[in-house]
Amino acid sequence: MAVVIDGKQAAASVIESVKEKATAFESTTGGKIGLAVVIVGDDPASHAYVGSKGRMAKECGFNSVQHTLPAETTQQALEDLVARLNADPAIHGILVQLPLPKPLQSDAVIQSILPEKDVDGLHVVNAGKLFSGDMDTGLISCTPAGAMLLVRKVHGIDLSGLNALVIGRSNLFGKPMAQLLLNANATVTMAHSRSRDLPALARQADILVAAVGRAGMVKADWIKEGATVIDVGINRIPAPEKGEGKTRLVGDVAYEDCAAKAGAITPVPGGVGPMTIAMLMANTVIAAYRTAGMPAPRF
Ligand code: GUN
Repeated sequence: MAVVIDGKQAAASVIESVKEKATAFESTTGGKIGLAVVIVGDDPASHAYVGSKGRMAKECGFNSVQHTLPAETTQQALEDLVARLNADPAIHGILVQLPLPKPLQSDAVIQSILPEKDVDGLHVVNAGKLFSGDMDTGLISCTPAGAMLLVRKVHGIDLSGLNALVIGRSNLFGKPMAQLLLNANATVTMAHSRSRDLPALARQADILVAAVGRAGMVKADWIKEGATVIDVGINRIPAPEKGEGKTRLVGDVAYEDCAAKAGAITPVPGGVGPMTIAMLMANTVIAAYRTAGMPAPRF
């Protein structure tokens, strides 16, 4: 039976460290660490995420600023707001919640954020630094950074000789995740909807990372005996056993069956999920320390 990787505990320990660093920042500089979160439109799920990010930022002792804009906001108005936040010395991190309502162009907005304030790690400068193996001066996308922290809990920092498979190739997760694994010396395969024989690829993997958004897609007979399974999926499915109309959250991995074969596995909820917000706070601390010329902590 697999070891269950406790993302809640790992996230809590990152947050503890963030709080200490936030206190030290304030006593050294006399100012708070500032995080601005921008949300456009009224998508309830996005508002829920942004609400949790703001609450956590406050809990960490940051100056947390939320900009809520109507769905009809123009591209220019949004980019003007980003320009003001770029120029504001009290703001160290900027996050524009995605997806943006149509017809806004998210890429242009993301690329208008100063790379040193891009706590989502989505600016091409930050993506390029990760790609070229620079792990010291850029900012790394929060969910892959959090998933990687969980991988390190099992395998340590050096993944030499291990095969890793990442299923999913998004800019927000799959591509940076593969790059992090590669930078840690794993032999990395990236699979996606056009890959042939996914189960055969999966059976080679000592580390399997699933980020496809399909409930229970990864089956037990895909899992190599003793593998580490990182489930990034968050899928809401009907749960009639809890009562009529009730739902529950499940990952991309058929958890019970795969846990019987894996060496270590992340649950959903309580695995990678809690790490995303924790790493956003960590990135904001890193950005603030760099701006102040203080040695940035590692998480
Ligand atoms: N929407 C869903 N996940 C994310 C994220 O990590 N960052 C941003 N900006 N938007 C998201």
